[in-house]
Amino acid sequence: MKIAVASDHGGFQLKEHIKKYLESRNIEVLDLGTHSEESVDYPEFGRACGEAVAKGEADKGIVCCGTGIGISIAANKVKGIRCALCTDVHMAEMTKKHNNANILAMGGRTTEPDKAVEITAAWLDTEFEGGRHQRRVDMLDSM
Ligand code: RB5
Repeated sequence: MKIAVASDHGGFQLKEHIKKYLESRNIEVLDLGTHSEESVDYPEFGRACGEAVAKGEADKGIVCCGTGIGISIAANKVKGIRCALCTDVHMAEMTKKHNNANILAMGGRTTEPDKAVEITAAWLDTEFEGGRHQRRVDMLDSM
């Protein structure tokens, strides 16, 4: 399993924290930046992560900005991406069960690092339910 991670300056610290967690699970990480807290533009990084997942360069992605909102909007502009902004474990479980989200978004200024790890674990460890949800995911992917 390879996970692409990307952030802007507002999500940089959280990205670094999540990277360590992924590595502790022996998950390969493709870090698409940013690499410091110097101000950058989140659309560029959301798109980079979306494209990496859409092209199959990574199995899944995790994106972080200040709130998780802007970078999730950017990732969702890429065809085939279902990026979900999650602020709790329940949302992470549900977005995997029902939406089969292939990118998780979180906010570096809105979600504490330990909570973000719990959210990431829930998203990674929950299975997509398929069935009627597959039809809806197919509808999303055809848009
Ligand atoms: C950057 O200041 C901030 O706008 C960005 O990180 C993000 O929160 C946007 O949605």
